[in-house]
Amino acid sequence: MSFKAGFLTVALVAAVALTGCMSMDAEESEWHEPADPSDSYSPTAHAYGNVLINRMSSASGVTPVLFSHWAHRVNYSCRVCHFELKFEFKANQTEITEADNMDGQFCGACHNGTTAFGHTKDNCSKCHGYDDDENRREFVEMVTKANSSMIQPIMPKSSHGNNIDWSRALLSLKYSLDPGVTQMPYDSVLELSAEADRIPPAYFPHGEHVYILDCANCHPDIFNIKKKTTRHFSMRYITQGLFCGVCHGKVAFPVDDCERCHPAMKGKG
Ligand code: HEC
Ligand code: HEC
Ligand code: HEC
Ligand code: HEC
Ligand code: HEC
Ligand code: HEC
Repeated sequence: MSFKAGFLTVALVAAVALTGCMSMDAEESEWHEPADPSDSYSPTAHAYGNVLINRMSSASGVTPVLFSHWAHRVNYSCRVCHFELKFEFKANQTEITEADNMDGQFCGACHNGTTAFGHTKDNCSKCHGYDDDENRREFVEMVTKANSSMIQPIMPKSSHGNNIDWSRALLSLKYSLDPGVTQMPYDSVLELSAEADRIPPAYFPHGEHVYILDCANCHPDIFNIKKKTTRHFSMRYITQGLFCGVCHGKVAFPVDDCERCHPAMKGKG
């Protein structure tokens, strides 16, 4: 992702330099691996982006399903699931049935016994069985393994969300399940400044987003294509889960990480 992030990095570094603060890189390099790796992740790091799917399970007499974003976004773009496979950006909105899964839709597009474990009796409880301790153990194991290289961490640390800086993670993601479909490059970085004076502007880097999302994931449902025409686009609505808050606060880094959107707010949040 670091290549696609180049444009944004320039904007961020420029903004950070203006405020006279230390660069982000210097801060990141201060982190050392502690003796027990699980100590370096907040007690809720693994749970960030976990979705409990229970639209039909309890009513049908099966245990609800735990879906972990961290376990899947290491391999696939958001676009694969939220555009190609038509999962909604809101928990319990997608009409997933066991018959559809068996038929190769939704989870079954991959959980077919070839790409990932299939819909067989011995696997029911892998999806219909929620164990928070086990989920945390797997999370810590995954990140620790990825970062054990002597050269550089594959999943660098961040202070929020999964405690992983996903923007700088060195993953080789599948952009599409169809090898013929490739990413449309679009690097435009928008400066979104609030009406009020003296509020440092927020930056929206298209490049960071179109690397993992489809244009149609945001346009026209979440944002108008014309800058500054999206109505009621303010922090109050973002923290309520609208606009940027559709993803930021649920799966992408949360809204309390102010400076990643408002680089001049370094030190807040
Ligand atoms: C890869 C994950 C996965 C596996 C494996 C899996 N399921 Fe499901 N299943 C789901 C999801 C997701 C839903 C939707 C849950 C909801 O909406 O509450 C679901 C829904 C269901 C439902 C309720 C909806 C319906 O269509 O009746 C039943 C019953 C069910 N599964 C049974 C099973 C059985 C039995 C197995 C093992 C043979 C199994 N599942 C294996 C993911 C899985
Ligand atoms: C392997 C498939 C898969 C991938 C990859 C994936 N998601 Fe999801 N996502 C899901 C499923 C399944 C749900 C739950 C949908 C439901 O219950 O209707 C979900 C739900 C969500 C939600 C709603 C969460 C909530 O608590 O309401 C958001 C936001 C979201 N995803 C964003 C993303 C983003 C951003 C990415 C990429 C970084 C991503 N997803 C990658 C499958 C995926
Ligand atoms: C785009 C492909 C893809 C889709 C769609 C997908 N998965 Fe997975 N999933 C994988 C792969 C690959 C793995 C890791 C390989 C394995 O465990 O077989 C995995 C692993 C898992 C695991 C074990 C890791 C963990 O989280 O503890 C669970 C549980 C799981 N998936 C549930 C689901 C559910 C539920 C859905 C649908 C709501 C789903 N997956 C949709 C590809 C997918
Ligand atoms: C994660 C969400 C997201 C994705 C994905 C996305 N955009 Fe945008 N786009 C925005 C936002 C936010 C704005 C600003 C809207 C506003 O100010 O009202 C915008 C504005 C635009 C504008 C107007 C920019 C200007 O300078 O006036 C164009 C053109 C555009 N997007 C094209 C695209 C294309 C092409 C893609 C896919 C390659 C894409 N967008 C993907 C969020 C997104
Ligand atoms: C459809 C989901 C989605 C929407 C909507 C969205 N983002 Fe993102 N954004 C992501 C994901 C996923 C990442 C990758 C980082 C992560 O997951 O923490 C990201 C990364 C970023 C980054 C890069 C940060 C860095 O350190 O490099 C910025 C800045 C950002 N988003 C700002 C915004 C702003 C501002 C908006 C609203 C105008 C917005 N995003 C809307 C999903 C989204
Ligand atoms: C995911 C990106 C993102 C994060 C994180 C974020 N903001 Fe914002 N912020 C925005 C956007 C986008 C706007 C709207 C710009 C506009 O009006 O066009 C905004 C606007 C604002 C405004 C102007 C008034 C208003 O309500 O719109 C203030 C004040 C503000 N943010 C403060 C904060 C603080 C404090 C934090 C951390 C607690 C924060 N923001 C975190 C994206 C973000």
